[in-house]
Amino acid sequence: MDLFEEALAKAGENCRELSFEDIKALLGAGESERPRLYALADRVRSRLLGEEVYLRGIIEFSNYCSGACFYCGLRSGNKGVRRYRMEPSEILEAAGEAAGMGLKTIVLQSGEDPFYTVEILTGVIWEIKKLDVAVTLSLGLRSPEDLRAFKEAGADRYLLKHETADADLFARLRPGTTLEDRVGSLRLLKRLGYQVGSGGMVGLPGQTVPAVARDLLLMRDLDVEMAGLGPFIPHPGTPLGGSPAGSLEMTLTILAVARLVLPDAHLPATTALGTINPRGRGLALRCGANVIMPNVTPQRYRSHYSIYPGKTGIDRDPFTSVREMRLLIESLGRSEGTGYGHSPKYAYTELHSGRESGVRSQKPE
Ligand code: 5AD
Ligand code: SF4
Repeated sequence: MDLFEEALAKAGENCRELSFEDIKALLGAGESERPRLYALADRVRSRLLGEEVYLRGIIEFSNYCSGACFYCGLRSGNKGVRRYRMEPSEILEAAGEAAGMGLKTIVLQSGEDPFYTVEILTGVIWEIKKLDVAVTLSLGLRSPEDLRAFKEAGADRYLLKHETADADLFARLRPGTTLEDRVGSLRLLKRLGYQVGSGGMVGLPGQTVPAVARDLLLMRDLDVEMAGLGPFIPHPGTPLGGSPAGSLEMTLTILAVARLVLPDAHLPATTALGTINPRGRGLALRCGANVIMPNVTPQRYRSHYSIYPGKTGIDRDPFTSVREMRLLIESLGRSEGTGYGHSPKYAYTELHSGRESGVRSQKPE
């Protein structure tokens, strides 16, 4: 038996025992082997997480960023971006609209923008929690004190992608920061009681198959609750503007292998995948993914949150984006998740979305 067949058989018996060598063999699946890999990932998803697809409404509330990541259109050095910041009242209005459409998770995402102080953000989180939703933060690096305060205000989850587990590539693409520090922040988030999402990009220039295998092993080691894996898409206003994009096939393969390595993690069908291929998200939901993140940012801001060019959905309003995702779920014969969509590891909190996992239940002053 060749290495791929051996690894696939092992995954079919006990995914949790896949080794570095097994993972590399699965990632190397040839065209004729991929359908069986996808089918196994789909079965594992169905067995452990069921047919429900969870919607997470994402509000991109500020595109200011002090970071200088080589791949990202929001990097501070990109002068071609019109920067915006939403007022807390606008964020709450968008969150209210999303909750009104029945979404049970609100994701607050921004560049690394110190304008939003811990006081502003805890106030926003506190108000959003009144809508009976789970709150996910995706704000980049913040101080341990801030992270603790957000948790106490009621935040449930935090997304902080490690981006690449190749330390040299990480240092080249994120000048002034290290993989070690980022992993340290992820471990801190776990200790603070957040459900943690990590992930990275597929097809970064210089990324190798062993590096992707290490991405998956790092996330297994961190015991993440979610893994966001989408294709790299070159942005002309960045140093990587001339590099090729990650491919649909490679992204689907990595997603399928991620489902096997992280069997009970939430895996989103990413907007980036929907951007490189109009059928991308539907295909992802059939090879391991179980989450979609409709954009509920007010339409007037959307085109400016230009992490990469051509982002799908910037011409839509929140209602259209959510409806479109619901139609996609229906067309696949799946159902929309009805609860908060917490990690199965935190299933007990499905019963209520309060601040029960916070240390304190008083409104922070
Ligand atoms: N292509 C695809 N995804 C990107 N991201 C940043 N730049 C790009 C790009 N050019 C992703 C990163 C980051 C999030 C803000 O967006 O994974 O975590
Ligand atoms: Fe800023 Fe995040 Fe983009 Fe880096 S990836 S430039 S931290 S928004």
